[in-house]
Amino acid sequence: MEFKDLVQARRSVHNFETGFKVDQNTWNELLEYVRFTPSGYNAQPWSFKLIQSDSELQKMYQLCYKQKHILTAGNLVVVIGDVNFGENEAERIVKEWEAFRDFSPSQAEALRASLVKERADWKKREMVIRNCSLAAMTFLYAAEDLGLATCPMMGFRQLDLKRELELEENELPILLIALGKSEEAEAERLPRKSIEDMSA
Ligand SMILES: Cc1cc2nc3c(=O)[nH]c(=O)nc-3n(C[C@H](O)[C@H](O)[C@H](O)COP(=O)(O)O)c2cc1C
Repeated sequence: MEFKDLVQARRSVHNFETGFKVDQNTWNELLEYVRFTPSGYNAQPWSFKLIQSDSELQKMYQLCYKQKHILTAGNLVVVIGDVNFGENEAERIVKEWEAFRDFSPSQAEALRASLVKERADWKKREMVIRNCSLAAMTFLYAAEDLGLATCPMMGFRQLDLKRELELEENELPILLIALGKSEEAEAERLPRKSIEDMSA
């Protein structure tokens, strides 16, 4: 499908065929698209967790204000960000940049300093949310391209979900994505802003 058609075809689906589970090959294929998402410093501060078991989905359903597509989609993706990627990943990132073309030692030093610079918690969260949101968007288009339906979700109890999934201190659940097979005829869209209204 042409990319423009794919962008126009994607919908946030709320009615899914029940019983469908994404297999490992498809999961890998989806993440293969996500790998090419751009990120600040090329840090790629994201990971993707796939939840499929009924018992875990039930728990997520409770933490997502009982949004029913959590259960019917059969697959729930948690996009997780590392809020401390600057410190945690600095050495990997600097090494990769050093190996890249003509990156000089002074550039490497400046990059390291910028990565490990002290930042307020809100700033770190904001940085990781920007990066992970782009990765999530790649995931949504990847799913569409593979004939799968998605619904991105921010309606969940973030801290409770973090606790339930036993995430590390530095890990923040950024977005959930219900993933499965659509049971909807092509839905009407909610209105979109006009180009004039979008132009700043
Ligand atoms: C960041 C974000 C959070 C969203 N949260 C929810 C949610 O919690 N539950 C839900 O059913 N849909 C959620 N949506 C889906 C939006 O309602 C949907 O994208 C919007 O109405 C436009 O429809 P479309 O995606 O079909 O074009 C979310 C979408 C985004 C991008």
